[in-house]
Amino acid sequence: MGLKHGTMTASQRDPLGVGLLGVGVVGTVVAQALLDGRTQETVPGSHPLVLKQAAIRDLDKDRSVPSDLLTSDVSSVVNNPEVDIVVELMGGEEPATASIAAALKSGKHVVTANKEAIAKNGDELIALAEANGVRLLYEAAVGGGIPIIGPLSSDLLANRIQSLRAIINGTTNYILTRMTAQGEAFDDILADAQALGYAEADPSADVDGWDAMYKIAILARLAYGASVPLDSVHREGIRPVTAADISNAATLGYTIKLIAAARLEDGGLLVRVHPALIPNDVPMAKVDGVLNVCEIEGDLVGPLWLQGRGAGPDATASAVLGDIIRVARAPGSITPPRKLISPPALLEMSDYQCQYYLRLVVKDQPGVLAKVAGILADRNISIDSVLQMDSDPERGTADIVLTTHPAREREVQQAVEQISAVSSVEKFASLLRIEPYGDSSG
Ligand code: NDP
Ligand code: HSE
Repeated sequence: MGLKHGTMTASQRDPLGVGLLGVGVVGTVVAQALLDGRTQETVPGSHPLVLKQAAIRDLDKDRSVPSDLLTSDVSSVVNNPEVDIVVELMGGEEPATASIAAALKSGKHVVTANKEAIAKNGDELIALAEANGVRLLYEAAVGGGIPIIGPLSSDLLANRIQSLRAIINGTTNYILTRMTAQGEAFDDILADAQALGYAEADPSADVDGWDAMYKIAILARLAYGASVPLDSVHREGIRPVTAADISNAATLGYTIKLIAAARLEDGGLLVRVHPALIPNDVPMAKVDGVLNVCEIEGDLVGPLWLQGRGAGPDATASAVLGDIIRVARAPGSITPPRKLISPPALLEMSDYQCQYYLRLVVKDQPGVLAKVAGILADRNISIDSVLQMDSDPERGTADIVLTTHPAREREVQQAVEQISAVSSVEKFASLLRIEPYGDSSG
């Protein structure tokens, strides 16, 4: 193994060997850029990069990488003495985490796009990189091509971050955008997202909010210098969001998005992922398709808005290649992440406070609304608006949509339980949160 941390000039610098783990959607573009010399073009003075070996599962598939560089044995790449930088693009927790750890322990730099491995095992992997004096870079793990890990890890270090709020999963944003624009069926849109290379192979990673949870946990750790165990993050996906909710939200002046947020509330840190109603007049409501966005609020810098392609082969490869080039320029420049001496306590979702959107299917008869209003009033939850939608004379039912003034999640959940038990309420259909902006924050 040959790490070359010397101070030679551009023309004297030794090449660094790159070992790729995975030549799929993202790995193919990364391999091509290493093979055609793109990584050399823009950065004079850095170590030349040479692709030494690449691991894949299926040796019979056609690849853009010369066959003599391919292996199905991941450990042979990690242990290859000619490999100085291991680029992990397999995805999933294992064997990715074990491979990253082995590479770091043997003094190799690691670049990865793997949010699951970093969200679940980041604390240990970051410590391993520090202990072995090597770099662990993962810009592509969050927000695809958007530079977000870099700013949080270095440019914004002087700030106390007050809040992070993001649309951070391209697949769900793509699905919700098409459901909103054309009322298309969820399953057809998901199939398209997979064909375009946005969605994860297991769709639940995207649609059930896991992917967004991994990403916001990574950002929250960087922003707040705290460990963010995944069981402390509130997670809901988009499966429960129906065409009726999207259309009711539009009637009320909102667009539904999957929001991932981390914010200091009452001195503690609340990290949450769930679908939310966004007022149509705020910019986040207009971030459509596969685009991602992250709003960062720092005490010195004020509000920042980072928007771009959050998934897809080229955008993601842009971030991976940027990290590889960063190592090639300065392999010895190790920058440990922010670690607060007294990190904030992690709060539970039951402490959250916002306005709520509630949809009930009720028997269309006198007194139902009064009962529901009474239950809310008993818990001091104040109603902001009431709409009766979609009456069904044949079944004798109607959809009632209520929005509330700001209320505590704990109280709202208790009220929902009580409302669901009312005999004239056929079904408690939806609880969605209205994202606080400005005056509506309560
Ligand atoms: P793919 O599924 O397209 O590619 C995975 C690659 O890894 C394939 O070449 C596969 O081999 C190989 N591989 C998987 N498991 C093994 C194993 N056990 N041994 C050897 N090779 C293995 O994934 P993507 O390129 O889409 O994603 C790569 C990473 O980038 C993931 O962490 C993902 O979350 C992240 N990412 C992806 C984005 C995207 O838009 N696609 C956006 C942002 C991040 P084979 O080809 O033989 O199947
Ligand atoms: N599946 C992810 C998304 C892309 O849809 O955003 C990889 O991060």
